[in-house]
Amino acid sequence: MKLGVNIDHVAVLREAREVNDPDILQALYVACQNGADQITIHLREDRRHIQDIDVKNIMMLSKVPVNLECSINKEIIDIVCENKPHRATLVPEKRQEVTTEGGLDLFSNETYVKYAIDKLNAAEIPVSLFVDPSIEAMKKSKELGAQMVELHTGHFANLFAMLNSALPYSNHSVKELELSRSELEKGLQQEIEKIKEAAKLANELGLEVAAGHGLNYHNVDNMVNIPEIIELNIGQSIIARSVFTGLDKAVQEMKRLTSR
Ligand code: PXP
Repeated sequence: MKLGVNIDHVAVLREAREVNDPDILQALYVACQNGADQITIHLREDRRHIQDIDVKNIMMLSKVPVNLECSINKEIIDIVCENKPHRATLVPEKRQEVTTEGGLDLFSNETYVKYAIDKLNAAEIPVSLFVDPSIEAMKKSKELGAQMVELHTGHFANLFAMLNSALPYSNHSVKELELSRSELEKGLQQEIEKIKEAAKLANELGLEVAAGHGLNYHNVDNMVNIPEIIELNIGQSIIARSVFTGLDKAVQEMKRLTSR
């Protein structure tokens, strides 16, 4: 299992004061030294955390592959092509959202997604699509020419958190708040089955399979147990823990939990 450490939130803290502290390159170094197999960053259209110069520096200095998340916006795709990351992950992006709220809709955005995949592939950049774990999305990802899918685990994470702490993972998810305990349990099992089925189908279709969003030290074993999933991209929980333990220990512990 490959651990992709998402260091966007180090840049969130830095941007809060518009100073170079904490230093994202120090985060890159510490994550790599302590078990990250990949560094994941998201160059958002609104540049709320990672900046263009971060992408350049991280590409230049990273000792492990860089997975660059981006929207299907043409200008952003051009920037990604120039920087030549080891992989681009196409994600949905809305200006108002706090974080990526769901998978990329491959059906209503088909033309743009296809354009982005073709352009990135022409620049020799493999493409992963961040999608909901559905059968349709797996088939469509293959049809559009992606090399990989990243299964959105946000709904799983919400259900898991509601069952285990009586609080949703995300304050923005009110849907789960209305469910009874037995409905939550059933929903969680169904969601895990959906993720398993999607991972199996994607694998059969010849797509590599990653997963991410809302994964933490308590719920991650559910994803580690799915053999077709070869990579997990995790940000919030690692950076949150690092406030208390240091980034070195936070990455080491996640690496231990995700090793199989
Ligand atoms: N994977 C993708 C495609 C994402 O957009 C994000 C959120 O930036 C993550 C993984 C990491 O999610 P989290 O920060 O909840 O661990």
